[in-house]
Amino acid sequence: MAVAPAVPPRGLPEPPPEARAHAARLTARIAAEIDAAGGAIPFERYMELALYAPGLGYYVAGARKLGPAGDFVTAPELGGLFAQCLAVQCAEVLERSGGDTVVELGAGSGALAAGLLAALEAVGAAPRRYAIVEVSPELRERQRATLAARAGALAGRVEWWERLPAPGSVRGVIVANEVLDALPVHRFRIRGGRVRMLGVARAGEGFGWVELDPEPALERAVRAVEEDLGRALPEGYTSELCLRLAPWVATVTGLLGRGAALFVDYGHPRAEYYHETRRDGTLMCHYRHRAHGEPLVLAGLQDITAHVDFTAVAEAGAAAGMELLGYTSQAWFLMGCGLERHAQALAAAPERERWRLAQEVRTLALPTEMGERFKAIALGRGVEGPLAGFALRDERHRL
Ligand SMILES: C[S@@+](CC[C@H](N)C(=O)[O-])C[C@H]1O[C@@H](n2cnc3c(N)ncnc32)[C@H](O)[C@@H]1O
Repeated sequence: MAVAPAVPPRGLPEPPPEARAHAARLTARIAAEIDAAGGAIPFERYMELALYAPGLGYYVAGARKLGPAGDFVTAPELGGLFAQCLAVQCAEVLERSGGDTVVELGAGSGALAAGLLAALEAVGAAPRRYAIVEVSPELRERQRATLAARAGALAGRVEWWERLPAPGSVRGVIVANEVLDALPVHRFRIRGGRVRMLGVARAGEGFGWVELDPEPALERAVRAVEEDLGRALPEGYTSELCLRLAPWVATVTGLLGRGAALFVDYGHPRAEYYHETRRDGTLMCHYRHRAHGEPLVLAGLQDITAHVDFTAVAEAGAAAGMELLGYTSQAWFLMGCGLERHAQALAAAPERERWRLAQEVRTLALPTEMGERFKAIALGRGVEGPLAGFALRDERHRL
């Protein structure tokens, strides 16, 4: 049966010719893999290639992604407040763990690293080293440039880890903002009571969706979700599941001999993630500040993300011997870390800056902006709670 090609949603800006040429190269690379696989690949593999294919994927090839001139803006890109708040949490964990290291996973433009180092220095808690783990060579270069321009002498404390050090060898804090949502996910559908795995096939000049027999691990994981929910997912229900999340959380938290890992991302507790009304999953793509739900177009030119199942993060942490130290919305987390105080301290700034600052606070904290959609979760080893970010409201019971 012919596969229907995915259609670009209306209203997306037309990519310029060089971007089109880039997309055509990545499309050919993915098409070759589809042919070699006999006609289809799992969506998870498509997402991995679209984001990370060497030299071609969205995160590893050239174009500017983050910030006003890119495709989307993250909390650290809005201004300095997110980093200042996070620094409060990092300083507390560094102190309680007797740690000397901050590890940042997926550091984007380097804005958070520069802000965190400055804010930690300001309270006399600058770490001995600030290690970045980044899969994208292009973003590593951008991080170096940002830190050279903005971190002064503290830039000398930053190192990039190509390989992770031995498990248990780090004492301190791990931070990751919007990284879990960038891990490739499986997409599945319930059809005739069975779990089907969504795959990607060639269609016309591009790609289209097909249903495949599921990988056994995916089928088991979907059934485990149903068991945990206490109900079967309804017919036609389509969603995502990240099989890579648990091993990744285990690997990164395994670095900690003592300390805490803090993940901030958009997502939900499992019962909400797989709510009956969310019948088409959580995939989201960003191209030039337009959000839409079709990942099979603009290969290599757009970001592709899925929301995070925070119950899965907590479970992965528990399986890796980590204690769940807190879970709350970004708004409550930032307020627990003194968002209002930090914003007020800047209120003496010129009027234009004050206006920008008010805007930044709104975007970070309003429920309709990042405040409720984004959540923070902390997993600790050998560190006593409660932590500042979860002191005002802790919703661990919802996971
Ligand atoms: C959405 S961006 C967020 C960047 C930054 N944390 C921020 O908030 O602006 C995702 C980042 O994670 C990186 N990344 C994706 N998968 C990764 C992995 N497995 N390990 C480390 N970094 C990863 C990407 O290259 C990119 O820097």
